[in-house]
Amino acid sequence: MSDRTRRIEFGDFQTPPRLAYDVCRLLEEFGIQPDSVIEPTCGVGAFVLAALDTFPAAGSVFGLDCNGRHVDELRSRLRARGEAHRVRLEEADFFGMDWGNNLSSMAGNLLVLGNLPWVTNAAIGAIGGANLPAKSNFMNRVGFDAIGGKSNFDISEWMLLEILRWFSGRSGDIAMLVKTAVARKVLAYARKRGVLIETSSLHSIDAKREFGAAVDACLLVVRLTDNPARVEYDYTVFESLSAPTGHRVGHRSGFAVGDMAAFESHAFLMGHSPQKWRSGIKHDASQVMELRRTDAGLVNGGGEIVDLEETYLFPMMKGSDIGSGKAWRGTYMLVPQRQVGEPTDPIRDRAPRTWAYLEGHAGALDARRSIIYLKNPRYSIFGVGDYAFRPWRIAICSLYKTLSFRLQPPIEGRPVMFDDTVYYVSFDDEAEARDTLARLQSEPAQRLLRSLIFWDEKRPIKTGILNALDWSLLDGMGGIRSRPQQVLNPVP
Ligand SMILES: C[S@@+](CC[C@H](N)C(=O)[O-])C[C@H]1O[C@@H](n2cnc3c(N)ncnc32)[C@H](O)[C@@H]1O
Repeated sequence: MSDRTRRIEFGDFQTPPRLAYDVCRLLEEFGIQPDSVIEPTCGVGAFVLAALDTFPAAGSVFGLDCNGRHVDELRSRLRARGEAHRVRLEEADFFGMDWGNNLSSMAGNLLVLGNLPWVTNAAIGAIGGANLPAKSNFMNRVGFDAIGGKSNFDISEWMLLEILRWFSGRSGDIAMLVKTAVARKVLAYARKRGVLIETSSLHSIDAKREFGAAVDACLLVVRLTDNPARVEYDYTVFESLSAPTGHRVGHRSGFAVGDMAAFESHAFLMGHSPQKWRSGIKHDASQVMELRRTDAGLVNGGGEIVDLEETYLFPMMKGSDIGSGKAWRGTYMLVPQRQVGEPTDPIRDRAPRTWAYLEGHAGALDARRSIIYLKNPRYSIFGVGDYAFRPWRIAICSLYKTLSFRLQPPIEGRPVMFDDTVYYVSFDDEAEARDTLARLQSEPAQRLLRSLIFWDEKRPIKTGILNALDWSLLDGMGGIRSRPQQVLNPVP
């Protein structure tokens, strides 16, 4: 394995010493005075050394890393400083470690400090690596079910869940540099599982500058308590390590709330969207189902010129067109059903050329892997229903990092179809569509939605969030049409 792949597999990006000292100073300002410190993936020891200098009273310091060269380097740095006696070092795998035994020998207030590897299981898989918990019992132990059900996750997430366990029945602090998305997930997990958190905060760092990584990252600081009466799951997000004030984040009404103040002043708009937001069409066969009009005729994704009736052809726009506000580019989608599960064989008589085209590409369509295609008529698609054929629509791309709704009129007299990265609502009537757009663009709607959106997520715009906004309570002038008598009482 090359040095580069090894570096990826082990998320081996050492923290600059200045950053480790800045972190420790901040912890000191928070009043953290540990008796024992653990650096669970210590590398060459930026945090171990910063902790020795910042917390001279810490009687017991333990550093572990699976990379023997790093451990040796740290050992000689400690010797050079005459401090080898203050630190116990071990070359070992975090996932194979008997933490229980180690923890019992670390007395008093515990601080778990450091920078865990920022690598996902998918990235490890792609390079044929093995830096994952060896046994499923590890996943069970950390309550993997709670965060599981997803194919891609960060190993730092697993490590942090394990670290949280170390504090059951014990108070102390965790301070870790992690991806911001990981920090949020771990705090959500802790809340769900009733982990006794007293205070927590996220302090953004410039990951590009510090580690050359294009990802949102932060210092996560969690204070754990053994007193259930002191538990508090809302946390504060600071723009930087030195920012004096931040904004509160938490969970209300089943949602993660990124801006508590904005949410609470607009929470009366929480309810049910008057119309359910839907995602665009899923067909998993863009080569066959998506076509473009050229001078030579219709051309499919495979470059073939094809001759189809207009019956099942609709103008289409992709999420990237919607997200970037592009004009229609003469593309079409073949939409063989109006309802999910509708038989497709009538196409044979209604549009013989279209049927011949589908039959001619049956290989590609039958090869679609998802089980949903097997259980439905041949050539099926998903994301259709009456709503998909109303002419006017308001659309938003789930993947783009802007909250911008687009009014999409019909094109060539037909409703425009979207791919499944687009969420939309649809209307028969243009005036109603325009009025709804004005409500969605109004200040109160935008502020409520923004308070629920986390822009560093892969799909920041979620139907769950859109469906929670009751736009009937707004008028199109940015005003409030009616405020319900009973203002929604946020559930903590
Ligand atoms: C992002 S670096 C940070 C190193 C150090 N904590 C610092 O802040 O400079 C991650 C470290 O985790 C170590 N590591 C990765 N996987 C590990 C595992 N399974 N067990 C122990 N250490 C591991 C790597 O060798 C690397 O030193």
